[in-house]
Amino acid sequence: AGRARAEPLRKIPFGAAIQSEFLDSDPLYGPAFLRYCDLVMPMNELKFDQIHPERDVWRFEPADRLVELALSNGKLSRGTCHVWWGSTPAWVEAITSEREAERVLVEHIERVGDRYRGKLTGWDVVNEPLAYDPREEGPLRDTHWLRVLGPRHIPLALSTTARVDPQARIVVNDYDLEFEGPLYDARRSVMIDLLRQLQDGGVRVDGLGIQGHLYGDRTIDKDALEAFHRTLDEMGIELLVTELDVINRESPPDPESMDALAYDLVDDFLDGVFAHKPPAMVVTWGLTDRYSWIPDVMPRYDGTPHRPLPLTADYAEKNWLHLL
Ligand code: XIL
Repeated sequence: AGRARAEPLRKIPFGAAIQSEFLDSDPLYGPAFLRYCDLVMPMNELKFDQIHPERDVWRFEPADRLVELALSNGKLSRGTCHVWWGSTPAWVEAITSEREAERVLVEHIERVGDRYRGKLTGWDVVNEPLAYDPREEGPLRDTHWLRVLGPRHIPLALSTTARVDPQARIVVNDYDLEFEGPLYDARRSVMIDLLRQLQDGGVRVDGLGIQGHLYGDRTIDKDALEAFHRTLDEMGIELLVTELDVINRESPPDPESMDALAYDLVDDFLDGVFAHKPPAMVVTWGLTDRYSWIPDVMPRYDGTPHRPLPLTADYAEKNWLHLL
């Protein structure tokens, strides 16, 4: 679709998450997304605390700008997210009444869903619902929404989003679903259980998003990914890759070996994701190493720069871009 890069091996939409704060300061930033992507999605601007920071304050402009940038350039866009422990504003966390919390959640989703109806291919409605180690806690993550509304906040959020924007794909999104080991086996199986319970309760779920934050010191379980994808497909749920990037805290810092490690990791991951059938899309969490969430949260042990994304900090293409 008019891409400047080599013909992709995998003919599904490729997207990336974009941040409004860099559009004006960096003249290379916006054009890079338009050059490489079929889909451009707001990274943070649609999150609850960003778009609705106070009860009576709505901040739509940054999200509007990004969605408009995508659509006016013939790109797709999608939304993240209504329910996430990491973006619940303080004023919502102060609500202790169940009725009040339900009203706030429903009205929030109605207002945001209404504004972007028809513009987004879908929504990561609920982000990171699983407890980190569901063998020991949970299985749902202990969040404010869980404490005040119970597990029903999940079907409530999904069905409200579907009611307000019936064409949008309704997606549940989570991390650590691609690696080898008992913890990740447990996360995959608990996620399938959650999706089955939702379906048994009559709730529509169209997609499961695998974030795809890949770690340099973990092994991709290709067979498990293939089986996971097959199970989802049998349930009528599509698989999406929603936040792909590479977290390499430990390898030698020279760019060649870091990028070779990233290539192999992404290649293994895509092998597993594509083994059963192609996913609905692959989205990276940013596009250039110049901007990423990873250095702030998980700096490299030797203090050298991370190289998490398919373009370098100078916007040069890495080999793994051509896997996408
Ligand atoms: C991160 C963004 O990248 C940051 O800019 C923001 O400050 C916090 O959120 N998993 C997710 C994403 O689901 O929403 C997170 O995004 C990264 C981890």
